[in-house]
Amino acid sequence: MSNWQELEHKYFMNTVERVPVTLVRGQGARVWDEDGREYLDFVGGWAVNSLGHCHPVVVDALAEQAHTLIQASNQFYTIPQIRLAELLIQNSCLDRVFFCNSGAEANEGAVKLARRYRKLHPNGAYEVITTMDSFHGRTLAMVAATGQSKFQQPYAPLPVGFINVEYNNIEAIKVATTSQTCAVMLEPVQGEGGVNLPDNNYLTAVRAWCDQTGILLILDEIQTGLGRTGTLFAYEQYGVEPDIMTLAKGLASGVPIGAFLAKEKVSVFTPGEHGSTFGGNPLTCAAGYATLKFIIDNDIAGNAKKVGQYLVAGLEGLRQKFQFITDVRGCGLLVAIEFSSDIAQSAVMACLDRGLLVNRVKPNAVRFMPPLIIGNEEVDEALGILDKALSSIARRG
Ligand SMILES: Cc1ncc(COP(=O)(O)O)c(C=O)c1O
Repeated sequence: MSNWQELEHKYFMNTVERVPVTLVRGQGARVWDEDGREYLDFVGGWAVNSLGHCHPVVVDALAEQAHTLIQASNQFYTIPQIRLAELLIQNSCLDRVFFCNSGAEANEGAVKLARRYRKLHPNGAYEVITTMDSFHGRTLAMVAATGQSKFQQPYAPLPVGFINVEYNNIEAIKVATTSQTCAVMLEPVQGEGGVNLPDNNYLTAVRAWCDQTGILLILDEIQTGLGRTGTLFAYEQYGVEPDIMTLAKGLASGVPIGAFLAKEKVSVFTPGEHGSTFGGNPLTCAAGYATLKFIIDNDIAGNAKKVGQYLVAGLEGLRQKFQFITDVRGCGLLVAIEFSSDIAQSAVMACLDRGLLVNRVKPNAVRFMPPLIIGNEEVDEALGILDKALSSIARRG
């Protein structure tokens, strides 16, 4: 163990089981550890480094903005946040935006907006229906929204007003709906839950139910948005439009930022009803603008779709070879393979030893979230390493 890792064990709260490697540098889809060893990065900062590591457009935007204005507070108008807001609105179905600093914070804001809207129209309904195996963040309210008991139990009692129902089950949403329901909140594709895709017509049925009952639809596109699933926003693939959408992760290709966007009629906040010290900060928004502009101008979502299909086809090939791969699923460059037993950690370590970073999303599933700028060559390289890693696991039996 390196000195850095010993120091981490001494000083850090023990909240995460880290992979034993200390990364010091990144470029494109590659990272290097403190001993100079190179890795192909299919973790991508947990689906954050959309343009890869240290992309010149992001680095240049950060450098220029750092020399110009870093923080001014939302007491004043600042230009980078307005440019980013305009680009987001012009390229989505939403009309207004609020910037914050993380995904959890974006979802908190979205739920606050939905409650505020329903206080005004018409009855103060406050309950939000979410799904099992979802992930919406680590704040207390978002832990209540997240339909996974392992995140909830340590912190009970949780804030009231969140009902977790089975995913891909429209009847469950209908049964859970009461006069107190103000919104349904869903990830179009569940990321942390294991890359679970919506069944045909699930999202359109949810949208229809929301329209019929006057409930708002909040789509959490924190992991699926900004090109990750092969379109700029995942909702485009499912023929639905949300009333509110949340973003974070890939929006500034590594710089911490979050946002929630809403249709005009839902944008009911008045001055003082919501706020943030750092949200909309010029530095992060300059990185966000550079990232989003590059994604749009270079059809990075289209690349994610094409290369994602190539990755899935390659993984299907490995599935033919290794009986213990029981499923390959994904959308764009958000992809997972599932195993018949809990070997995901062994797979992560066997890949690490051979120079590939992947993510254990469940004890029996590995997830791939590489930068969206990769090509088929990087996929071939990753598949080659994965093949060798899984062969070594198969030999051990
Ligand atoms: C769909 C989704 N929502 C919310 C979050 C929380 O984001 P953050 O960790 O930035 O608070 C995540 C993080 O993985 C996520 O995948």
